[in-house]
Amino acid sequence: MSDAAENKIYLADYQEFSHLIDGVELTFALAPTATRVKSKIKFRPNPNAPAQPFFLHGENLKFISAKINGQEISPTLTDTGLTTDVPDGAFEFEAEVEISPETNTALEGLYMSNGMYCTQCEAEGFRKITYYPDRPDVMATFKVRVESDLPVLLSNGNPGDAGDGFAEWHDPWPKPAYLFALVAGDLIAHSDNFTTRSGKDVALNIYVRKGDEDKCAFGMGALKRSMTWDEQVYGREYDLDIFNIVAVDDFNMGAMENKGLNIFNSSCVLASPETSTDANFERIEGIIAHEYFHNWTGNRITCRDWFQLCLKEGLTVFRDQQFTGDMRSHAVKRIDDVITLRARQFREDNGPLAHPVRPESFVEINNFYTATVYDKGAEVIGMLKRLVGDDAYAKALDLYFERHDGDAATIEDWLKVFEDTTGRDLSQFAQWYSQAGTPRLSVSEEFADGTYTLHFKQHTPPTPGQSAKKPQVLPIAVGLLNPNGDEVQATTVLEMTESEQSFSFSGLAAKPIPSILREFSAPVILERESTPSERAFLLAHDTDPFNKWEAGRALAKQTLVDMLTNDATVNTDLLNALAAVLRDDALDPAFQALALALPSQDDMAQTLFDAGHTPDPSAIYTALETLAQSIAQHLQDLLPRIYAANHVEGPFSPDATSAGKRALQGAVLGLLSRLDGGDQARAQYASADNMTQQLQALACLLRVDRGQAELKQFEAQWSHDRLVMDKWFGLQSGLAAPEKAASVTAALTEHAAFDWKNPNRFRATLGGLTGNAAGFHAANGEGYKLLADWLIKLDAINPQTTARMSTAFDSWRRYDADRQGQMRDQLKRIQGTANLSRDTLEMVTRILEG
Ligand code: TRP
Ligand code: ZN
Repeated sequence: MSDAAENKIYLADYQEFSHLIDGVELTFALAPTATRVKSKIKFRPNPNAPAQPFFLHGENLKFISAKINGQEISPTLTDTGLTTDVPDGAFEFEAEVEISPETNTALEGLYMSNGMYCTQCEAEGFRKITYYPDRPDVMATFKVRVESDLPVLLSNGNPGDAGDGFAEWHDPWPKPAYLFALVAGDLIAHSDNFTTRSGKDVALNIYVRKGDEDKCAFGMGALKRSMTWDEQVYGREYDLDIFNIVAVDDFNMGAMENKGLNIFNSSCVLASPETSTDANFERIEGIIAHEYFHNWTGNRITCRDWFQLCLKEGLTVFRDQQFTGDMRSHAVKRIDDVITLRARQFREDNGPLAHPVRPESFVEINNFYTATVYDKGAEVIGMLKRLVGDDAYAKALDLYFERHDGDAATIEDWLKVFEDTTGRDLSQFAQWYSQAGTPRLSVSEEFADGTYTLHFKQHTPPTPGQSAKKPQVLPIAVGLLNPNGDEVQATTVLEMTESEQSFSFSGLAAKPIPSILREFSAPVILERESTPSERAFLLAHDTDPFNKWEAGRALAKQTLVDMLTNDATVNTDLLNALAAVLRDDALDPAFQALALALPSQDDMAQTLFDAGHTPDPSAIYTALETLAQSIAQHLQDLLPRIYAANHVEGPFSPDATSAGKRALQGAVLGLLSRLDGGDQARAQYASADNMTQQLQALACLLRVDRGQAELKQFEAQWSHDRLVMDKWFGLQSGLAAPEKAASVTAALTEHAAFDWKNPNRFRATLGGLTGNAAGFHAANGEGYKLLADWLIKLDAINPQTTARMSTAFDSWRRYDADRQGQMRDQLKRIQGTANLSRDTLEMVTRILEG
């Protein structure tokens, strides 16, 4: 991989650091362009480490001075760090460096956002703050002194001395440098407290900028629910006197679990009914839980090296998914998670960026905070839990916390606690961590003499760098229904380990209808021939809510494929089945809303490609429009009644029941506006007193090419609120008609409020375009060119967000020669840009070569 390959890091090369650390003291004298950082680090030789030169990471640091045991030294300095001779035994290392937070636009290390100082150290940002062994297996206790005239000065751990112009913090728990954090600003605290189950009192604060203090209450409630849940479900208590959250406007990702001082993208913590949608509320609750849960899965037990990232991320995602299921609805949460998994992880796993849940090499670790590590990492844990059972899972987790508290652990350590608790051999299961690619599972059936047999075959297509694939361990949850819709076999988990395997059920009076892969029990693509009427039957009768939804989804995809490849008309089984779902008052409205939703354009493109067709983005768009129009017409008598019946009275509440009703109302409004030219949507827009309904209505209007007046009104109403304005930007690029998407987006980038240096605004606007598949892939190539222009511009100041957004091009090989050529040209143009970041270079190179 040309230049980039020379800097590849390999899992196989892991070795321990030369020293252990007995304590770190840091003093920050904050100033926008000349912050002084003094460090004092107590090193002691690591008896387990191989001989190696003494090297500390350090990047973009202005070296002032360094000492060993009080004696000034002249170390060797390079772009990546510092090397020096050191004494044989223990010694104290001191350094003073100068850094410039104000000009740090990469948002990694210590930087400034709207006049406040903040840090982002994961994965390798601490080396931009001072010289240090910046690797997760080097853990130390930190004492921090922050000097500044700003009123709020925060760091990790418990507060110590504070006075005019300074504050001290002490973190008693040894931690790796990536969990370090510092915040200084003119902030307001929304405060509360929590008593742990052993009776310890914890002070809780959410710190925000002035004007945002009325958007903290929901997040605070979510934090307390998370703390209670982790005690009740995992037996995990909080371990400091204080837990702080800070909201920051400029942030590359969602949030960060720094010990005792979580830092959040403000979009992932600030919430109010007027400015946040139901989806925002749910996401905020989930992310607050996620970061809080990291305190045990990530911080108390951290990762030995960055190849083990899924050890903390897969497990913590799994835990936040369980939490959201418990707080809301397991069925709805599972369906949502599978939609996301397919949209992001399956796409990744089936393209040039495919990599194992535990990768074996990387150039830039920031490029591996992926859907595979996070979401497939969580799926792997879900499979493990299903295979060993709930009780063994709980025992294994207890052992994990007991055995590895304070460790920097590996996936081998993780699997070993399951082997030790259950006596199982997990060597084949471990392949889920090392083998990339989404398995295809096909199935055929046989019925004779009361015995029903399912014959399964699995195979995983090759992925970059991994041509030969082995069979995976697949937990396949199956239930059987008899032809009148009763369940004759409750859910049972078949454990498939071979390429081909059969499972039989005997004593059946009639050939049953199978419900396969209930709850989506394994992250595979199920290839099963079925008839529309059988799918409609399962949508009507399946007792597993995931598979009930899945039957409808499969039916919709089947009719779309037929429309696109055989000029078929809309399948009437689908239309009748959807009518039945809407008429069934016993169903959860949130479920009904999910059943009404159609597959995404991108999902259809991948599905067609998988089936051997070349997807045409504009034809997919048209087929989806045609299908939506047919559904609207078929359901037209029902729609007004359902819309009215799901009206939520009274003051706004973000609870799951109310949110589900609003979701159904929104889905129905989308259909109604295809029939009434947007009249109902316009009325809802005018009367909405919450963002969910205001935004739903605006989206419906834009989809039917109305809503210009409302867009103007919305802008005037919300120009003061940056998070709401992100929605305004994203909605327009995301919903513009295909032929106008690039020009609408280009015009948005000319808008006075388009602050391209703010990742949220950049992502809303350009990410809206890339999510608008027919618009992004418009045949004239304008979408590709616009994105590439902006990626090249952003790369110079923010490599991490640029690299992440370059994945919009990762599906390029699916398309026709013309589009492939245009995308390849843009990728090459990015790749050839002078001084391109290592982050973006690695991504575009992998996309081109994979
Ligand atoms: N550890 C964070 C989480 O998943 C992710 C994260 C936040 C991150 N900011 C980052 C990862 C910056 C890489 C770079 O909760
Ligand atoms: Zn995480």
